Amino acid sequence: MTKHFLLLSFFWLAIAIDCRAQGVDSSKFPKPVVFTTQQDHENMMKQLGITQLRPGPSGDANAPNHANYDQTKANPCPVLPDVLATRKGTKITTAEQWWKQRRPEIVEDFEKEVYGRIPANVPQVSWTVKVMEREFVARTPVIVKMLQGHVDNNAYPLINVDINMMLVVPANVKGPVPVLIMFSGRPSFPAPAQPSPDEMEKINSAFKEMMIRQDPSLKMIFDKYPAYTPVTRLPGPNFFAPAVNGDSPPTEQLLAAGWGYVTIETTSIQADNGEGITRGIIGLTNKGQPRKPEDWGALRAWAWGASRGLDYLETDSLVDAKKVGIEGVSRYGKAALVTMAFDQRFAVVLVGSSGKGGATLHRRVFGEAVESLTGGGYYWMCGNYLKYGAAQSTTGAKTGCDLPVDSHELIALCAPRLTFISYGIPEKGDANWLDHKGSYMATVAAGAVFKLLGVNDIGVTNDYMKEEMPPVNTGMLEGELAWRQHDGGHTDAPNFKFFIPWASKKLNYSK
Ligand code: GCU
Repeated sequence: MTKHFLLLSFFWLAIAIDCRAQGVDSSKFPKPVVFTTQQDHENMMKQLGITQLRPGPSGDANAPNHANYDQTKANPCPVLPDVLATRKGTKITTAEQWWKQRRPEIVEDFEKEVYGRIPANVPQVSWTVKVMEREFVARTPVIVKMLQGHVDNNAYPLINVDINMMLVVPANVKGPVPVLIMFSGRPSFPAPAQPSPDEMEKINSAFKEMMIRQDPSLKMIFDKYPAYTPVTRLPGPNFFAPAVNGDSPPTEQLLAAGWGYVTIETTSIQADNGEGITRGIIGLTNKGQPRKPEDWGALRAWAWGASRGLDYLETDSLVDAKKVGIEGVSRYGKAALVTMAFDQRFAVVLVGSSGKGGATLHRRVFGEAVESLTGGGYYWMCGNYLKYGAAQSTTGAKTGCDLPVDSHELIALCAPRLTFISYGIPEKGDANWLDHKGSYMATVAAGAVFKLLGVNDIGVTNDYMKEEMPPVNTGMLEGELAWRQHDGGHTDAPNFKFFIPWASKKLNYSK
């Protein structure tokens, strides 16, 4: 109680100080609601009339409530919603029917029941280049721009959202270049340019003088070690580094192939927790109030942020905005797939180890469950998703089998654009929790839409109950829809050496 009270007080103090600094009269606006994650979760349950949720399973195979890892029990409702039939049952046989009838239905269901809607009043973002400089990443000269997207908060100045993003493009190729946006933590300069040795000497002598003025006894120390310099240079670029290869960091592989990349800080868009849902872009748009059941969750908010990043890239002459991709791993893999599905300007996606809420079928009961996403991960989703984990509610109990859509249809929303589904292996830490098989089934089923739209899928039938997963390290990379399970862990890095040539070829790009 006291801890919570203290936190609350700090929060208010911070807002009050911030508002005073900006000359805003905070009493004119509704106070932002400060909930704990649990309070926010309960609030949403109440709005939906849910009195009890089934608990999510444990990932620990030895726990009494452990997740199911028995394939024979994994398909309680094996028949997926037909991606190529309307809700009324009309078969979809032409591209036109897909675009005009079926696709909008699927979008509507995902927005209403799974990821939530972006409110119409979400404010505008204006981008500023904060720092621009030339650097070297290994041997590649690059242009780096540190960008900030300020979200207009005139309608609710008590919440401030500034999206942090770093753009890095190779300077040794004739642009404009394709760019991969990567969901990440706080972006940093890859190899900040530094003062020359002569300039460092100047900085150090001024610095020493300043220090001696502050504390004259320091003079003795500096005299004793005349070669010592308090300010030292960071290690510079390594021009003798081995040439970039398939084991190099993905960002270096991208630059070597003539691609640029962007790192975008997810939590500068929306916090990765439930208590933050009344702040960030969701909170700002809601004027600090809790969500309604159809409002967007964090995955949709991160995807929205990536779309705003693409808005900026469309204005930057270094970038070929028709060849911008989106990438992420794990929860950010889910966000990458959501981004691609909803914003058709993205040309390509690399979906890394995304699991439930990403490429894996919600209906499958294997590893992570719908109940995990209605419990701990609830704020990633929209409120309505909670209904599918309800044991007791005014509208009855529901399970994943009651969802009107499933992940094969999310992948299908990406068609005919380039869509690469990536996983690692459980033995190396890409846990069974992720349900690789369920993602493969979804990829197989989604293929029907790629074919309908005149491009290739992973090159098998679309019979998701019959098709077997290929052996590890088999690249299914001929089509616009691609699948590869590498033999590493919970990362997509080992697949970059396949992803980059595949994407470059399909986008008709060579440096
Ligand atoms: C948990 C969670 C997953 C998520 C992952 C991550 O395992 O259950 O849904 O993808 O964390 O993002 O690290």
